Amino acid sequence: MSEQQSIHGIWTKRWTFVLAATGSAVGLGNIWKFPYMAGENGGGAFVLIYLFFIFAIGIPVMLAEILLGRRGRASPINSMHTLANEAKATPFWGGIGWLGALAGLFILSFYSVVAGWAVSYVYLMASGTFEGQNAEMISGEFGNLVSDPGKLVDWHTLFMAMTVVVVANGIHKGLEMAVQWLMPLLFVMLLLLLGYSATLDSFSDSLSFMFRVDFGKLTEEAILSALGHSFFTLSLGMGAIMAYGAYMSRQQNLASTVVTVGLLDTLVALVAGIVIFSIVFANGLEPGAGPSLMFQTLPIAFSQMPGGVVLGTMFFVLVVAAAWSSAISLAEPAVAWAVETLGMNRGVAALIVGVTAWVLGVACALSLNIWSDVKIFDNSIFDFFDKLTTNIMLPLGGLLICVFVAWVMDRAIVRSEVDIDHPSIYKAWFFLVRFVAPVGVAVVMFNKLME
Ligand code: PFF
Ligand code: NA
Repeated sequence: MSEQQSIHGIWTKRWTFVLAATGSAVGLGNIWKFPYMAGENGGGAFVLIYLFFIFAIGIPVMLAEILLGRRGRASPINSMHTLANEAKATPFWGGIGWLGALAGLFILSFYSVVAGWAVSYVYLMASGTFEGQNAEMISGEFGNLVSDPGKLVDWHTLFMAMTVVVVANGIHKGLEMAVQWLMPLLFVMLLLLLGYSATLDSFSDSLSFMFRVDFGKLTEEAILSALGHSFFTLSLGMGAIMAYGAYMSRQQNLASTVVTVGLLDTLVALVAGIVIFSIVFANGLEPGAGPSLMFQTLPIAFSQMPGGVVLGTMFFVLVVAAAWSSAISLAEPAVAWAVETLGMNRGVAALIVGVTAWVLGVACALSLNIWSDVKIFDNSIFDFFDKLTTNIMLPLGGLLICVFVAWVMDRAIVRSEVDIDHPSIYKAWFFLVRFVAPVGVAVVMFNKLME
């Protein structure tokens, strides 16, 4: 093999990069977070603005971010150093990598807590807890979980351990295996649920909630959340997708890959939203229930279905798998850096990153019960880590990536890395990355700060 590789190896098949990137993108952000955010922000207008951000900013930024990784061929921190050197720019651009590795650690902390909820729902489903319960009892089960610090920490610990094991095994044995089988299965399960919700009378209410646009409901907060979430859901702005790009072959077409991943991610989020709101409206629940939404609605649907115990168990297993393949990408930038620069053994690096995120995660878990009085800038610890990363660190990282690619890097290099054949499509992409994305992010963040 003649092409230069990262020291961590290279994806074995053309499809594995698409799978790994999709594995990173599709996760709790789609099934858990997107529906409850749409619910909290009144539906249609939020969904529309989210879609706008995905296509006008998210997908173009994803192309820029992968390009950096594929050219830098190393962890985001080291890739950015190399590329800054190549562009004769200040080494401070390495800061994109540092900011990202830190954001990854922060996200992993609360992400693992929520993934822990999903693991515990596998258990609740499989043990038939919800059988014969009414909707109220089923949704009450979530409160029992969240108010119990011991349970929360146990499930969080289990999930973090799973993440460390896969990351420790490296990109071949670990990352590829995990995504190859589970992602397609998740799609099938979601389609099945979509079929079920189409049989409910509330299906059309769900559709109109998701797609009827009422801009009167759109607050500044909602716009910032939609922007932040478009980064979160596509795993952008923190180097996860850059790190994966470093393991990508030069032969592979970037643009089509990026569009595939972006569309799949969007599809999963929309289907999850339609399913969940159908159940919400069929059972008189609140669309604005917040983070509990998915956990209170889906078990109701499964309890009403023939074979619900088996299907429900399977579904939560797949949610865990989706969260798992995202979590490993959250850890990857920091781990890859420690291996490259500190010469650490991959297993040790994975363990250190995992333990650090675990400690922060315990704080997030306890902030849902015994530490609920602890506030950081008016937010619980859990919300603080969520908002700090989603609304600030990821958009900022994305903005810096755009500035670097479209203003600092050599144009000819960018042109040759981005193998878009159509000159006008290339120009459109470059324009989005050079102007629309940075200005859009800056305006939304600045407006929010000035409030
Ligand atoms: N994209 C993931 C999701 O939607 O669940 C979350 C995520 C993974 C965010 C990796 C950021 C990241 F780097
Ligand atoms: Na996602």
